Amino acid sequence: MRATPVSDEIRRAPPLAHGGGRDYFGLEWSALAWLERTVDSAMTTLETGCGASTIVFAAAGARHVTISPDEGEHRRVLAYCAERGIATAAVRFIAEPSDVALMGAWQPEPLDLVLVDGAHGFPFPALDWYLTAAHLRVGGLVVLDDAYLPSVHVVVRFLRASSSWEQEPAIGYRTAVFRKISAELSYDWIGSAFDQRPHFDYLPLRDRPLAYARTLVLDRHPAIASAARRLLRTGRR
Ligand SMILES: C[S@@+](CC[C@H](N)C(=O)[O-])C[C@H]1O[C@@H](n2cnc3c(N)ncnc32)[C@H](O)[C@@H]1O
Repeated sequence: MRATPVSDEIRRAPPLAHGGGRDYFGLEWSALAWLERTVDSAMTTLETGCGASTIVFAAAGARHVTISPDEGEHRRVLAYCAERGIATAAVRFIAEPSDVALMGAWQPEPLDLVLVDGAHGFPFPALDWYLTAAHLRVGGLVVLDDAYLPSVHVVVRFLRASSSWEQEPAIGYRTAVFRKISAELSYDWIGSAFDQRPHFDYLPLRDRPLAYARTLVLDRHPAIASAARRLLRTGRR
């Protein structure tokens, strides 16, 4: 048991793991404190990205995998831990982009918690979620940092609409958490709450009303579609 919570220590002396050793781009303090309260040594965990969160996983004694392409970050996190007597033997660092690592160097294993905080451009947050979601145990948690960014929020929007996931209270203004409550995956859009609202913003303005009417009224209500066809036929006679 540490005398001071490691998240307090990080707040007091943030590890400059990013930007070649000049910057701190870590989780919010509230999210780090939540991570420290939540993770324990019985857990198997994985994160995309590396930094303060990695130090918290290490201090908790979790069997942990961190994936980021920047080996310098790994060295700086290891040095921060070494200076403070935080064991890192249970942490595996993979120095590759997550889309490569999650389909290669990482050997999938059942996970209790996944933190998605690596590459933030589309589609990487969605890929990080997708490539780990099947390995997350039912009851396990996925943490999505920078959840307000459109590239991350598409995952938030999907999980909020899915009956296989339950939203937990947010752990900071930018960090969302979801619990996997079923292993069931939905492959089809039909009946999926996520896919109910069409978007025709790629069409010229003048073509949009008809596209919305066709999709929302005619495609979804066959009785109205056949009545409309009958009306058109009568009008032509
Ligand atoms: C916001 S920082 C992560 C912060 C970390 N969670 C913390 O608490 O300090 C973003 C991280 O994503 C990593 N990254 C950038 N591109 C990546 C990629 N393609 N795959 C995985 N990680 C990537 C960066 O090297 C950096 O470690």
